[in-house]
Amino acid sequence: MGRESWRAGNMLYPLPAVMVSCQRPGEKPNIITIAWTGTICSSPAMVSISVRPERYSYDIIKKTGEFVINLTTQELARAADYCGVRSGRDTDKFQEMKLTPGKSVHVNAPYIEESPVNIECRVKQILELGSHHMFIAEVLGVDIDDKYLDESGKFCLNKADPIVYSHGEYFGLGKKVGSFGYSVRRKKRKK
Ligand SMILES: Cc1cc2nc3c(=O)[nH]c(=O)nc-3n(C[C@H](O)[C@H](O)[C@H](O)COP(=O)(O)O)c2cc1C
Repeated sequence: MGRESWRAGNMLYPLPAVMVSCQRPGEKPNIITIAWTGTICSSPAMVSISVRPERYSYDIIKKTGEFVINLTTQELARAADYCGVRSGRDTDKFQEMKLTPGKSVHVNAPYIEESPVNIECRVKQILELGSHHMFIAEVLGVDIDDKYLDESGKFCLNKADPIVYSHGEYFGLGKKVGSFGYSVRRKKRKK
């Protein structure tokens, strides 16, 4: 028994599997599922998605310079997978998955109404890395489903049952094991 050293490959998991919506003016909207995505800057808020140039969505995002990242939930898991294995070249994914395109505030690309969070993005830079080109984008605004706001107005994203993508499989979040800074937080003394 020991450790094996493998050749270079992608093994950074779990990741989000987001549904990215995009649309060319006058054409049907499309959705592409993306796992190669990340938050890359807080101020200004910036994100990235890496897309293979052969994807139908690639040209749409490149030409329009816009897209919306829609977070996925257990309820959306099947649709997320479908949008990652079927191409908009031959399917209307909104229609097939009974999803509703909503009117975004800052971009022409629609968001997915069934998703709890929609991140409206404008492309700033494209890095042609290799198999994937990375769209570096600025977040112009975030739309949230107000059914996840609690009585005090706090947004409770984890109540939406987000999913993660890990090594080819989708999972729910599971048990909470801590919260930001809990490792150094002083415990409340028992009275
Ligand atoms: C979970 C999952 C994650 C994916 N992540 C990416 C990704 O990060 N980049 C990419 O180019 N394709 C990714 N794909 C593949 C595309 O979603 C897939 O090729 C899709 O059919 C492209 O749609 P389109 O041709 O309508 O643009 C992923 C697929 C799945 C199921």
